Amino acid sequence: MADIRNIVILTGAGISAESGIDTFRDAGGLWEQHRVEDVATPEAFARDPDLVLRFYDMRRDAIQTKTPNPAHRALARLDREWEGGLLIVTQNVDDLHERAGAERVLHMHGEHLNAWCTACDTRSRWTGPLIDRPDCPACGEPRLRPDIVWFGEMPYRMEDIYAAMRGAHLFVSIGTSGAVYPAAGFVRDARSLGAKTLELNLERSQGSGWFDETRLGPASELVPSWVDEVLSQQN
Ligand code: APR
Repeated sequence: MADIRNIVILTGAGISAESGIDTFRDAGGLWEQHRVEDVATPEAFARDPDLVLRFYDMRRDAIQTKTPNPAHRALARLDREWEGGLLIVTQNVDDLHERAGAERVLHMHGEHLNAWCTACDTRSRWTGPLIDRPDCPACGEPRLRPDIVWFGEMPYRMEDIYAAMRGAHLFVSIGTSGAVYPAAGFVRDARSLGAKTLELNLERSQGSGWFDETRLGPASELVPSWVDEVLSQQN
């Protein structure tokens, strides 16, 4: 551990599963309940905006009733106490990392609690519905959409993510299936940049073979014990 100073952590839906937020591809997951083509593409939004807005209004409501679990809290503790570099890159659009107290968080797929104006490009904090086409707080145009990166759209802040990866000594992946790129390719990028790689997941992911180490189990158990381990070895 002596040589580990900078850490990049990738989180996915599995870290929020024990907070009662559905994952996407597990049994009974979101993509079994809804067709991606109907709710998570720009084409779907153009075709049937009401269906898409209602879907995200339902999700936005749901996440505000959930609370962080021990895995979120452990990463928030790491964020507070780790003296080296740390970036939590999350694919999740919930705000449970921040509600647990983490600050060094980057949402690469957007955030439920933001609305994005397609007229003036402003992102505004938003907790209510969008189905009634409310006006943008910045320009007054009724052109708000969920601030979610849909399939076929570019994830956010990729240059910041790669900059952190270039300096990372350790890359850790938590609660993700490794099914969606570019996030699914980060482990190989990290390896090629010389970082150690660790996976914490309920079951082996599609990218498990690329990790130096894989630990299987629920995030609420694996993450707190891993954080204890890391902080106990901090110089
Ligand atoms: N603890 C740890 N891991 C868990 C837990 C848990 N309690 N529950 C589920 N998992 C694991 C599953 O084994 C699976 O590997 O979390 C992963 C969830 O995978 P997905 O549902 O595919 O979610 P994710 O990898 O985050 O999806 C990536 O796909 O749909 C898009 O944009 C969306 O950000 C999302 C992206």
